Formats: sequence, structure tokens, C-alpha cells
Amino acid sequence: MIDIHSHILWDMDDGPRRLEDAIAMAKQAQEQGIYAMIATPHHMNGSYENKKEEILQAVEAMNTELRARKLDVNIVPGQEVRMTSSLLEDLKKGDILTLNKGNHLLVEFPSSEVPSYANRMLYDLQLAGITPIIAHPERNQEILQHPDKLYELVNAGGMSQITASSITGRFGKKIKKFAEQLIEHQLTHFVASDTHNISNRPNELGLAFEMITDAFDQNTVYVIQENAESLIYGEEIYVDPPSRIKQKKFFGIF
Ligand SMILES: [Fe+2]
Repeated sequence: MIDIHSHILWDMDDGPRRLEDAIAMAKQAQEQGIYAMIATPHHMNGSYENKKEEILQAVEAMNTELRARKLDVNIVPGQEVRMTSSLLEDLKKGDILTLNKGNHLLVEFPSSEVPSYANRMLYDLQLAGITPIIAHPERNQEILQHPDKLYELVNAGGMSQITASSITGRFGKKIKKFAEQLIEHQLTHFVASDTHNISNRPNELGLAFEMITDAFDQNTVYVIQENAESLIYGEEIYVDPPSRIKQKKFFGIF
């Protein structure tokens, strides 16, 4: 299978510091059944810049090291881009790396909110031929409280990716339940590891798919895995229309 979101390149962001740590992550990915990973270093999130050219070089160096160790995992380039008001400008300047240089861009919101200009930017990105994939919406406070915010973005043509460890329960019961609801309501299209290391942010993609098979069925897993294949090979991704998550209403005492 294919992992579309990972921090496996060494010495780039809050992923591995040393080459050997990155190699250990590739081995762990292989054990999960992964043969291709998109490396998505953080870009412009306040701490890391990681320009396109630097990432392309780092991906090449990583693949050389993997081949030297006879590991069967291929790394392809990408970026996890923070949604800022200058995103479109950066894209036009050529500083931004889409996933495997295709038409999809992995976009990260600040963890607590959805930027007020998100809907407008989604529209502008699509006009520029880019489909944004919102990274881990299940971990965003505003979306947790108002899932309709995600519904609006997905209904307008955006896509989303949930994190494997949200499904396995690593981030708690609330996030696990919400991640499952996103699958149920066609509000997400990908599951990826977002791995940073082999200990507290490990690669649990294989395990997550086993748990999705148990909670849903084999076909649900097949569709999600197929989306990642289509993404990496530049093929059309077919999506079902999303539905809204009905929230429990709290009635006040008058
Ligand atoms: Fe990430």
C-alpha cells in the first residue's frame, strides 16, 4: 500500500534527526505493508520552511540510502503546506511541491481553527488546477466542534486525509470516534501514517486498515487504498458525495 503523508526525511523538520532513524522508519513502514511513501516535510508552519528544491534533493538521497540497504520502499516528493494567505502566491512562484508533483496539495490548518479564508482559497486553488487535501481534520478543534465546516469544504470539491493513529486510538477515544464518523459520511478520502518517528508517532497504517475492516468492511478499505494509488499514479479519483454529521443538540433550561 501507499502512504501519502509522512515525515521520513532526516534533518528536515520534526521527523527523524539522523539517517539511521529514517531507515528505521522505512523498515517499520515496510512491516506495515507499505511500498511507497510520499515524504511531506512541513512547509511554512512557522518553524520550518523546506523549499521545493531541498525536498527533491533529500528524497533522492533517501532513495539512494534505501537502495543501498536493499529496502523495498520508494520515497516520492511532497510537502505538508500550512494554509496561509500567501499560499497562492507561493504556488505561482514555484516554491510549493504538490504530492508526487501532481494535482493534489496536502494542506494543513492551524490545529485549533479553520482559517476564515479557507473556502475562498479552496476555490482559488481549484481554479489553478489544484485539489487540496486537508490533513487530519479529525485533529482540528474547530472541525471537531463544527463538522459542517469540513462538509462545506468537501462538498465544494476539497478532499481530506485522516491519520492512521487517530483510528488506532493513539490520540484518544473522541478523535477515534470522529475519524470513524468522517469515513462513514464520505468526508474523508485517504488514511495516511503522518509518521514522525518509530516510537511515539509510529507508522500504524496497516493496523489502521485492519481496524477499519473490522469497523466497516473490506470494500471501505479497498476504496481508500485505491484513492492513494490513483493519486500517486496521477489517475482520476472518484468520490462519493459527502453527507453531514448530525450533531446532538443541547437544550438549555429556560
Ligand atoms: Fe504531518
